[in-house]
Amino acid sequence: VLDRGFVLGDGIYEVIPVYGRKPFRLPQHLARLQNSCDGIRLRNPHDAAGWTALIDELIGRQDFADQNLYLQVTRGVAKRDHAFPQSAEPTVFLMANPLVTPSAEQFEAGVAAVSATDNRWQRCDIKSIALLANVLLRQLAVDAGATETILFRDGYLTEGAASNIFVVKGGVILAPLRNHLMLPGITYDTVIELARAHGVPLEVREISEAEVRAADELWLTSSTKEVLPITRLDGRSVGEGQAGPVARHMLALYQTLKQAG
Ligand code: PDD
Repeated sequence: VLDRGFVLGDGIYEVIPVYGRKPFRLPQHLARLQNSCDGIRLRNPHDAAGWTALIDELIGRQDFADQNLYLQVTRGVAKRDHAFPQSAEPTVFLMANPLVTPSAEQFEAGVAAVSATDNRWQRCDIKSIALLANVLLRQLAVDAGATETILFRDGYLTEGAASNIFVVKGGVILAPLRNHLMLPGITYDTVIELARAHGVPLEVREISEAEVRAADELWLTSSTKEVLPITRLDGRSVGEGQAGPVARHMLALYQTLKQAG
């Protein structure tokens, strides 16, 4: 119980989707894991080969092929004190659960979102297990019968409580700037890569709250939700109130990439 993850929230994590027993974009997830370790000055206990071996073993032990793989590293067990312990071994924990991605029907209907002020810290680029602010923000959505909370800081879009957010206006995809105020989502990067590779108009820049509220399409992206349209925001319809053509196009490209491995 004296693990610093449990007592202080002193650790970092990753969520990696596994399709047909193959981890999707593993090098990118391991690179982000390293950035999170560096961000909290925690020694990464494994190199890429070590992580890959652990992950392959975990995947092999499950009797389901599509997996939601969770891993976390904490600063280990030590007498409670905010200061780093002199000698503690990082604690490594991994688990696999069945990966349940949105169905075609859920995609077409989309989900509802609410909005809130982003009151998190200034290092949202670190995938910290200390998720209390995200937990409280996401619960606002659940309390309102919605799925996600879209966050605004100083009048600009950052991300969702547990996802990244994209806007479509006039056929152009708008993606918020990747900086320390949002998590650099692996799905976010993948969508941007796919848009560029397939010539879909894209602007990566600051997006105002007004632009979000006037969007033709809004989507959330994450490793478990993939690309999922948001069709209601704060009780109002987004665009046509159903999945839009750009979302459909991007999800199709994403599915093709997944199948290619
Ligand atoms: N969350 N932003 C936040 C705050 C997130 O928690 C997540 C993912 C994302 C999307 O990142 P990615 O595309 O790499 O999944 C963005 C995971 C799924 C979770 O905490 O369960």
